[in-house]
Amino acid sequence: MIRRASSGRIVQVHLDGRLAAPLHRQVYDGLRALILDGTLRRGASVSSTREMAHELNVSRSTVILAYKQLRDEGYLLGRMGSATRVCSTLPDLALRAQPAPSQRKADAHRAAPSTRARKLLALPRRMNLIDHAPRAFRAAVPAVDMLPVDAWGRLLARRWRRASARALAYSDPFGYLPLRTAIADYLATARGVVCEPAQVMIVNGALEALDLACRVVLDPGDVAWLEDPGYFAAHGPLTAAGARIVRVRVDAHGIDVAQGRQLAPHARLAFVTPTRQQPLGVTLSLERRLALIEWARSAGAWIFEDDYDGEFRYGGRPLSSLQGLDPDGSVIYAGTFSKVLFPALRLGYVVVPPALVDAFGAARYFLDFSSSYLEQAVLTDFITEGHFERHIRRTRAVYAERQALLYALARKQLAGRLSLQESDAGMTVVGWLPPSMSEFDFARATHARGVDVELLSSFTGRPIAPGVVLGFAGIRDWEIREGVTNLSRAFDDLERGTRLAAKGGARRS
Ligand SMILES: Cc1ncc(COP(=O)(O)O)c(C=O)c1O
Repeated sequence: MIRRASSGRIVQVHLDGRLAAPLHRQVYDGLRALILDGTLRRGASVSSTREMAHELNVSRSTVILAYKQLRDEGYLLGRMGSATRVCSTLPDLALRAQPAPSQRKADAHRAAPSTRARKLLALPRRMNLIDHAPRAFRAAVPAVDMLPVDAWGRLLARRWRRASARALAYSDPFGYLPLRTAIADYLATARGVVCEPAQVMIVNGALEALDLACRVVLDPGDVAWLEDPGYFAAHGPLTAAGARIVRVRVDAHGIDVAQGRQLAPHARLAFVTPTRQQPLGVTLSLERRLALIEWARSAGAWIFEDDYDGEFRYGGRPLSSLQGLDPDGSVIYAGTFSKVLFPALRLGYVVVPPALVDAFGAARYFLDFSSSYLEQAVLTDFITEGHFERHIRRTRAVYAERQALLYALARKQLAGRLSLQESDAGMTVVGWLPPSMSEFDFARATHARGVDVELLSSFTGRPIAPGVVLGFAGIRDWEIREGVTNLSRAFDDLERGTRLAAKGGARRS
């Protein structure tokens, strides 16, 4: 506490010897607070160090220290031995003052995102993925409630208990070798991928694999093919790398390689989802696969194969990968555990062509070094001890049932309104709307009924028949039933709205 004499001079600062702060600090704090709240006016004279020491009953050196700091920081003015005054411009006020125009310009310059960031900001992002709990018919979510969490927890605890100092240090940017070996074995048998563990890099999801591929093979201005309609998130890494994106039409046989050759024969990279095209769900035909590989060979281009949900085929064996067909090492093959296990795991893999192994290693080193050891180690055990295969078998059976249920209910309740495209694979289905219906009106109506749908138009930049993508894998049976009923109600709402609008129009005319 500080008291002032009627002269305006400081007569007392209450000091507390029990406080941790040294006395000179308490004097400094007290005076600074008085200056800032205006009790000690700007320009006002302050007691001499001798007077102040006397008033406060402290040593003069304590006051000298406090005054020195206040002088150094620009609160007090005046040399030792002469009268001391409060500065007319205080540092805190200076900091809060309006910046000069040149400073404002510098601030605006600093705050402006880079051209690359501005381009990324302009891209659509699916924030509904993290908004709230999954509901019918949220796409992209697996049945996380089917995960063998107890087994995962046991493996995690075991790995943690046994973690050596070496395991907890920095590790190979390509990832944990036993996991890379387990993945190479799995991919050889399940996906027909031809590779050595040395080519397998563990990444934090398939999107990181694409980001690395873009860093490694693209220069700004290089052209990249992207399926149209196609995976919206692929725009991100391609855009960040400064690529010029050329959209190549997808038909019932997958990407139209002939159109790609016509539009951009010298593209450097083609992003494809051959096993089950995202979002249309079609499979790239053998003829097109061979044509794509042939184009890559002749153009000296790379193919990025995103095999994100290849495990889920319900009517027979999953199709082999494009990578396994390619004799030239031109396919960069990526997969993810986001669909087969859970997205929050943030683990995926990329099978790097031999010619790019060193460059991927360097790119990864400077991006985020490597993936988390613990998750990799637990996943290795999960795979090698048989949990992974078992989980795929169980989820595949459940997803097949959910897909069949969705088809059956849609046939019954949505006939003539939403026509679901036949498919025996994947975690989503495409539903075609009546040609005259607006996707946006439909989305609004379904949203009002508590149902999530993804618009097909959000996967493309060109006019396309109105349609939606419905996810079913992570949606429980009762939610699918309720969801289909709500879709039907949304159609009723739309028709009622159209009838009312027509009546209103007739009355007015
Ligand atoms: C085409 C495609 N690739 C990859 C992924 C998964 O990416 P990540 O492994 O980064 O979670 C998805 C998820 O929806 C996808 O649709």
